[in-house]
Amino acid sequence: MTTSADTDVPDRRAVREFARHLFGVYTAGGLTMMIDLGHRTGLFEAAARGPATSAELAERAGLQERYVREWLGAMVTGGIMTFDDGRYTLPAAHAAALTGPGSKNMAPMAAMVPLLGRNLDAVAEAFRNGGGLPYDAFAPDFTGVMDQLNRRPLDELLVDAWLPLVPGLTERLAAGARVADVGCGTGHAMVILGKAFPASTFTGYDIAEDALAHARAEAAAEGLTNVRFERADAAAFRPAEPVDVAFAIDAVHDQVDPAAVLRGIHDALVPGGRFVMVDMAAATDLADNVGNPFAPWIYTISTLHCMTVSLAGGGAGLGAAWGKELAVRMLGEAGFGEVAVAPAPGQALNLIYATERPG
Ligand SMILES: C[S@@+](CC[C@H](N)C(=O)[O-])C[C@H]1O[C@@H](n2cnc3c(N)ncnc32)[C@H](O)[C@@H]1O
Repeated sequence: MTTSADTDVPDRRAVREFARHLFGVYTAGGLTMMIDLGHRTGLFEAAARGPATSAELAERAGLQERYVREWLGAMVTGGIMTFDDGRYTLPAAHAAALTGPGSKNMAPMAAMVPLLGRNLDAVAEAFRNGGGLPYDAFAPDFTGVMDQLNRRPLDELLVDAWLPLVPGLTERLAAGARVADVGCGTGHAMVILGKAFPASTFTGYDIAEDALAHARAEAAAEGLTNVRFERADAAAFRPAEPVDVAFAIDAVHDQVDPAAVLRGIHDALVPGGRFVMVDMAAATDLADNVGNPFAPWIYTISTLHCMTVSLAGGGAGLGAAWGKELAVRMLGEAGFGEVAVAPAPGQALNLIYATERPG
C-alpha cells in the first residue's frame, strides 16, 4: 500500500535530472549574454575568418586578449566554438547562424535577453500590484534591438517570400497602391517596399519618435520620395485618405487596445483592401503550445515586454502568445473577411495572416 508520505517524497533520480535540466537553462541564459557580447564586439565575424589563437583573435577584432580568452572559454565549453592545438575555430555551420548580413544570422536576437533582464524588479512589482511597464521603460534600446532583429529577415523575405503568399498583392503594389504600415518601428519594411514598388506610396505610422526619426533618415538616405512616416497612435488610426493595403508587423499583440487597432485598420481600408498581419507563431491555448520549442521564448518576451507594455496602459494584455485562434476571431470581430494563415517562410517565430475588408 502506498501512503501519502511515500508519494510526497520525490524520486531522487528525478530531482537530479531536473536539477541538471535547470542548470542547463541557467547556462543557456548566461551563454545568450556571451553571444550578445560576441556580436557587439565583432568577435564572431573575426572568428569566421579562420582558426586563431586568443591573441590573434583579439588582434583581429581590436580587443583585449584577456577578455577574449575568457569569452572563448565559454564559447568552447558551450558548444559554439572548438579548440584544438591552441587555436579556436568557429565551425562553418555555426558561423552561418552567427555572422553575416542574412536572415540566418541569429546573433542579433541575443540582445533581447539582457534588454528585458534590465526591468526584472519593476516587472516583479507588477506581478504583486498589477499594471505594467510602459514602452518608455525599454527606451532607448528597444527600438534598435527590434530593428536589428527584423531588418535582415525583411530584406531577404518580405518581397520574395512573404508578399507572394497573398494572391494578387505583388501585382497590386506594382500597379500603384496606397500602403500603410501600422506600428512600423524603424520603417524598414516601408523602405524596402518603396524601393521595390515605385508606383505605390507608403506611409509608416508609429508612436515612438526615435523609431520614426530612424525611419525618416533611412528613407531620405535612399532618396525615396514615395515613402513617409507619421506619428500616430494606432488605436486612433484615421489616415487622411483610405488605404489599399495595410501591414502590421509584430505590432498588434502588444497594443493597449488591439481591438480598436484592428477596427481602425479595417475602417481605413478601401472595400477589397488587403490587410497583412505578421505576428508570433503560437496557439491561443497553452495545451497546444506544449512541445512548441519556440513557446518558452514567446511567453518569456511576452511577460517581460509585450504583455506588460499593454497592461501598463490599462490595456488588454493579450501578450505575444495570444495565438492564431484568438487572432482570427478578433480579425473577424473587426469586420475583416476570411483570414488565411500561413507560417512565415524563413521565420519560424512568425505567422502571416492575410485578409481583406469585404467589398
Ligand atoms: C514590436 S515593435 C515592431 C516594430 C516593427 N513593425 C518591426 O517589425 O520591427 C512594435 C511597434 O509598435 C509601436 N507601438 C506601440 N504602441 C503603439 C501605438 N499605440 N501606436 C502606434 N505605434 C505603437 C512601437 O513603438 C513599436 O515600434
